[in-house]
Formats: sequence, structure tokens, C-alpha cells
Amino acid sequence: MLVTISTRALALGAVLLASALANRLDVARNKGFHPNLARSLNGRAATPTEKRASQSYRYRNDNTESFLVESLPDIPQTFMTEMYSGLIPIHEDEPDRALFFVFQPRIGGPPVDEITIWMNGGPGCSSLEGFLQETGYIRWTWGQYAPTKNDYSWVNLTNVLWVEQPVGTGFSIGKPNATSEEDIASDFIKFFKNFQTTFGIKNHKVYVTGESYAGRYVPYIADAMLDQNDTCYYDVQGALMYDPCIGAYDVQNDMYTLPFAEANNNVINYNASFMEHLATMDEECGFSDFRDQYMQFPPSGVQPPLMESKAKCEVWNEAYYAAWTVNPCFNVYMLGFTCPLLSDPLGYPTDLQLSYPGLPVYFNRTDVKKAIHAPMDVEWLECAPHPVFKGNGGPQGLGDLSADPIQKVLPRVIEATNRVFISNGALDMDVLTNSTLLAIQNMVNYPSPNIPAPPTDSLNFKTWNGMMGFQSGPNKWQDIDITLPDLEYQDLFEQTGLGGLDRYQGIMGKQHYERGLMFTETYLSGHM
Ligand SMILES: *[C@@H]1O[C@H](CO)[C@@H](O)[C@H](O)[C@H]1NC(C)=O
Ligand SMILES: *[C@@H]1O[C@H](CO)[C@@H](O)[C@H](O)[C@H]1NC(C)=O
Ligand SMILES: *[C@@H]1O[C@H](CO)[C@@H](O)[C@H](O)[C@H]1NC(C)=O
Ligand SMILES: *[C@@H]1O[C@H](CO)[C@@H](O)[C@H](O)[C@H]1NC(C)=O
Ligand SMILES: *[C@@H]1O[C@H](CO)[C@@H](O)[C@H](O)[C@H]1NC(C)=O
Ligand SMILES: *[C@@H]1O[C@H](CO)[C@@H](O)[C@H](O)[C@H]1NC(C)=O
Repeated sequence: MLVTISTRALALGAVLLASALANRLDVARNKGFHPNLARSLNGRAATPTEKRASQSYRYRNDNTESFLVESLPDIPQTFMTEMYSGLIPIHEDEPDRALFFVFQPRIGGPPVDEITIWMNGGPGCSSLEGFLQETGYIRWTWGQYAPTKNDYSWVNLTNVLWVEQPVGTGFSIGKPNATSEEDIASDFIKFFKNFQTTFGIKNHKVYVTGESYAGRYVPYIADAMLDQNDTCYYDVQGALMYDPCIGAYDVQNDMYTLPFAEANNNVINYNASFMEHLATMDEECGFSDFRDQYMQFPPSGVQPPLMESKAKCEVWNEAYYAAWTVNPCFNVYMLGFTCPLLSDPLGYPTDLQLSYPGLPVYFNRTDVKKAIHAPMDVEWLECAPHPVFKGNGGPQGLGDLSADPIQKVLPRVIEATNRVFISNGALDMDVLTNSTLLAIQNMVNYPSPNIPAPPTDSLNFKTWNGMMGFQSGPNKWQDIDITLPDLEYQDLFEQTGLGGLDRYQGIMGKQHYERGLMFTETYLSGHM
């Protein structure tokens, strides 16, 4: 989730709405909706076999015993596998500055000596969202009455470490004092070494992954790890980012708002005069010329800095606000939702934060906090209600003073690993696919963010692996043909007499690989 400046104001209103609902929520909770739900699900008590299995857990030792999670409230015991969570300090001698993590080793396959780190964005949004609603094995997301197993969990393949960071996010404790991605990365790598020491981990391959604002965290953290020259703890083998903030995402979104609205107005439903208004702004701000000139494969040149023209050209903001007026259940993270607002056990079904009576914010529950060894005195919110950077300013105006990843660290991480993956959901309006692509076409390793852009005909800048941008564009990319059968609803299809219809999904996107970087666009997918 990306909390943009414009959505902040709305998010604040939503907090007020949520607190107005809090009284009703408490009443519902007293009626005992939850315990019934839990009891209706089979197998809550650990069977003797599972108890025996837990003795042979791979990462269980005297130091990790206190992090072991044996059960979770309202999660059927049959969903539980080896899992640990809690706080690990950034500096061993400063226990009051610590990051909260969940670690779940691979299930159902041979053990692998690797750690895949997952981070959500914000800045200030919790990676427990990724754990419960995106990449994890236990899934309880929008509109789900009860949790289910996620057959496509990343723990099917790798050991996943979800980390709430930077300081100030989720259950992580300490006073936020970062002013840059370098500060954040420096904290992270210390935490990460302490984590590995505690768990007796050495010589694991490391993959750094995340989404949204983590498009800034991921390359900076991977780069800081590479700088350590220490493959015992920091053997970075690749990085992955979904819908990531790797460039000047704000202005790049403005640049592509009109084409996005035109392509998707069947589900957004702007009226004709608003569409004309967008087109006028787009034209007056020079965006259509800019697109023609710079969305080229190979790139036509280095893009000029984009911030100056910003004030009168906030096309994306206007489109964002107008979308709510036509559809109160508009979801910027995934087009196509209409009312009612879906239930969400993390209280964030759209930028309107809402918890339905009987479904309190899961990680804010006392019983859940106890089960996961979270600090009891921290009120958990999916996105921090306060800034996680100390000051203001920076290229994207959020107090994060670091250069955009495309200008510095991302090309380095691509060259060092030759295994970087960037993907964007076609239905995401929060970070538009073409904004991300425009950033990739402008990946230039500037010596410093303060140095003016070079002349547009100068491509002598070190970009990535010897060339600038992708050399071929979307019309030449490969289709992603998903032939895997659906696992999640297969039984239901059978029972309903529709068996087999869910066998193949077909073309679900486009993919392209050049010089160590893979880009994909995923159809029917939003931000999360
Ligand atoms: C993931 O692992 C679970 C548990 O072993 C299994 O049921 C599921 O089929 C696996 N998913 C895939 C895609 O293989
Ligand atoms: C933040 O505070 C911690 C603890 O006092 C300190 O170790 C760290 O260097 C500070 N970081 C910055 C960027 O000031
Ligand atoms: C890692 O190696 C590089 C190049 O040899 C060097 O510049 C850098 O200082 C080293 N980093 C550390 C932490 O030793
Ligand atoms: C994205 O850019 C490509 C390449 O210029 C263009 O063909 C496509 O229509 C654009 N799509 C949207 C939704 O902006
Ligand atoms: C068109 O949409 C805009 C933005 O939602 C709104 O302000 C305006 O009143 C609408 N105009 C008409 C004629 O419905
Ligand atoms: C979190 O729990 C505390 C204590 O029970 C409560 O006061 C607060 O309203 C809860 N916050 C949310 C967002 O549910």
C-alpha cells in the first residue's frame, strides 16, 4: 500500500470514521461472534502428530524458542506450520529499538538455504498485510468471512521473512529518526544479522522483495547488503518489486492518468465533461508530448526532471477525487470494486478504513498480540498514523531524502545479481503500470541527484548492463500463459457441476527480460 500525500487527508477522515464505529464494534465483539467462528472450523487443537513434528522444526533452538508461534486465534490448527515472530533489536544493546518480524520456513518441499524478505510500503504500512493477505500461507483478506489456506503461498517455495520496518511501522518499536533510505537500510541490515544469529542461520541466499513504497526500500537494502561483502549473512541473489516507487512515481502517474482513465473508464465511469477536463490538463501540461517523446523502446534520451511543472498539473489527484464522487466504494488499489465495502480483518478495504462489527483489526487483538509475541502496549494499525521519516522534503516530498532508486541503487542491484523482477498490476491506479515503465526507461546512474539531467542525446551514462532502458516495447513482449489449474476453487467448481472450467487461466499478462531485469504486467491484478 502506498500512502500518497493526497490520500493522507482522506485516510485521516477515515480514521475518524473508524473511531466513530468503535463503540458499535465493541458491542458486537461482546456478542461473541468470533469464538463461534473459530469453533466451527475443524481441528483447532494440535494433534499429537503435529506436536511431535514441532520438535523437529528446522529453526527451533534455545534462542528461537521464545519466538515460536504454535497457534493463532481463529486460525485452524491444520493451517499452522513452523512459524516464529517477535521483536529483534537493531543494535543488540538497544532493546527499545527493534523491528517486528514473522518468519515461516518452506512447507511441503525439501528445505532450502535461502531467505526471502518481504516488505510492504506506505511509507509506514505493515508487512503483516503481506503475511496475512498477499504472500503468506494463511490468508484472510478482503471479503473473506474466515481464513483459508493460500495454495500459492511463497512458503511453498522459499523461507519467508516478513518485516515491519522502518522503525515506527506496525509493532516495531523506537522513535522514527530516519531521513533517508540509507538510514533505513543501515538499520535493516543490522536487524537482519541479529535475526540470523538468533536463528543460527549462515550462508543462506537472500532475496529482497516488496511492493509499492518498498520499491524504494528493496533496492537500497539490497545495495547496502551487497556493500557488506559478506556472503555469510548478505548473499543477495535477487530482488523483486510489485507496483513499486522506483522513480518519480507521483509525476509519472500524472503523466499516464489520462491514458489509464481512457483505457478503464468502463469501470471508473467518469462523465464526459470530466474526461474532457483531464484531456485538457494533459495537453496543457505537455504530458502527451512527453509520452510521445520518452515512452520509446529503446529510450530516446534521458528524461528531464519532472517536479517543476507539478503544481498545476496534478491530474492524478483530480482523477482520484473524482473517482470517489461516482463510486463511494472506489478502490484505488484495484479498479472494479463497487459497493458494499468489503470486510477486512486488517481494517483497510479501500482508502476508507473500516472494520465491520465483529471483525476487529486482527493484529490489534490482545489474544493475537500474545500469540505472536507482539508488544502489548502498541496499537496496531495497517499503516502508521504518524510519519516514519523524521523530517520533510526529498525528491518525493515524504521526508525521504534519498535519490530515486532508478538513479542510483537499482541499476547496481541489477548488475550485481542479474536477477531483478519488477511487476505491475494492470488494474492498479495507485502506481500505474506505464508510470513504472517510464521510470525503467529513465534508469540512469546519475552521480548525484543534485546534478542536472544530461543533454537528452547523451546516453553515455552508466545505466544497467551497458545500455539504457528496455530495447523493445510492450507490443513485442511475450504473453504470460498460465496453464496451471486453479487450486483454490477447484472443489467448488466440481461440486457445482462446472468442473474443469477453471483448469487453465490463459493469457494473464505480458513479460519481458533484458540484461538481468524482468518486467511483467499482470492483468486482472491490482496493487496488493
Ligand atoms: C503448496 O503447499 C501446500 C501444502 O503442502 C499444498 O497443498 C499446495 O498444493 C501447494 N501449492 C502448489 C501450487 O503446489
Ligand atoms: C537513530 O537513533 C538510534 C538510537 O539512538 C541511533 O543509533 C541511530 O544512529 C539514529 N539514526 C539516525 C539516522 O539518526
Ligand atoms: C566492500 O568492497 C568494496 C570494494 O572492494 C569496498 O569499497 C568496500 O569498502 C567494502 N565494504 C566493506 C563494508 O568492507
Ligand atoms: C501504456 O503504454 C503503452 C506503450 O506506449 C501504450 O501502448 C498503452 O496504451 C499504455 N496503456 C495505458 C493504460 O496507459
Ligand atoms: C462530472 O464529474 C465531475 C467530477 O466528478 C463533477 O464535478 C461534475 O459535476 C460532473 N458533471 C456532470 C454534468 O455530471
Ligand atoms: C486497538 O485496540 C485498542 C485497545 O483495545 C483500542 O482502543 C483501539 O481502538 C484499537 N484500534 C483499532 C484500529 O481497532
